[in-house]
Amino acid sequence: MLIDTHSHYDDAAFDEDLEQLIEELNKKNIIAVNVGATKGSALTALDFSGKYANIYAALGVHPDEVAELTDEDMQNFLKLSRNPKVVAIGEIGLDYHWDVNPRQIQKEWFVKQIKLAHEAELPICIHSRDAAQDTLDIVKAEDAGRFGGVVHCYSYGIELAKEYMKLGFHFGIGGVVTYKNAKTVKEVVDYLPIDRIVLETDCPYLAPAPHRGERNDSRNLMYVAAEIGAIKGYSPEDVIKITAENARKVYARLS
Ligand code: NI
Repeated sequence: MLIDTHSHYDDAAFDEDLEQLIEELNKKNIIAVNVGATKGSALTALDFSGKYANIYAALGVHPDEVAELTDEDMQNFLKLSRNPKVVAIGEIGLDYHWDVNPRQIQKEWFVKQIKLAHEAELPICIHSRDAAQDTLDIVKAEDAGRFGGVVHCYSYGIELAKEYMKLGFHFGIGGVVTYKNAKTVKEVVDYLPIDRIVLETDCPYLAPAPHRGERNDSRNLMYVAAEIGAIKGYSPEDVIKITAENARKVYARLS
């Protein structure tokens, strides 16, 4: 069993062959968590999780998209989160790279979605880009990891990884680790105990080498597992097995 903890199969890039692809993943014993990015995609993720046995959902809205949110949406998400195939609240956080929304608004909705996760008693999936300090400050102030969580596409250094480790977080590692110039991610993977690592594609984005630039999907995680194994001294099969156990620990509703 291989578990992809972060995917976007609702993306238009999959419109043409979605059914076939999900069936192919199922045949290969691959489970994927479809993560919400917009309000609409969060609802689609939930829809997919009802339709496909091997797809689970995370409900949440990405910092680029939070301007559309209302408190009523939070109430609605809370209700929907009782569905057993909802495994987490995410992806939520701060993105100061694109700064699509004012930082104050991003922070406000990050906090509100953390509170939602706590009410739902679910772990969170954090998106944080060029916003290391503010993200950590909020995570600490809100005790955000109370029900566990994953720092998705972890891209900061070892020092910050130590902080998130202390707070009980897991680390989402994907295609980036296979890129030649990804020195920091390789160092972090070397540093992290293997029981804190979960695999993720962020597909259709971030395809690993040798498929960099192409449409990504969960099958490509074998390249990620191989690279993590090469860095840490495990076989790719062991990395797949151990990270699946980790994923089930943090996203406890995965079966
Ligand atoms: Ni994502």
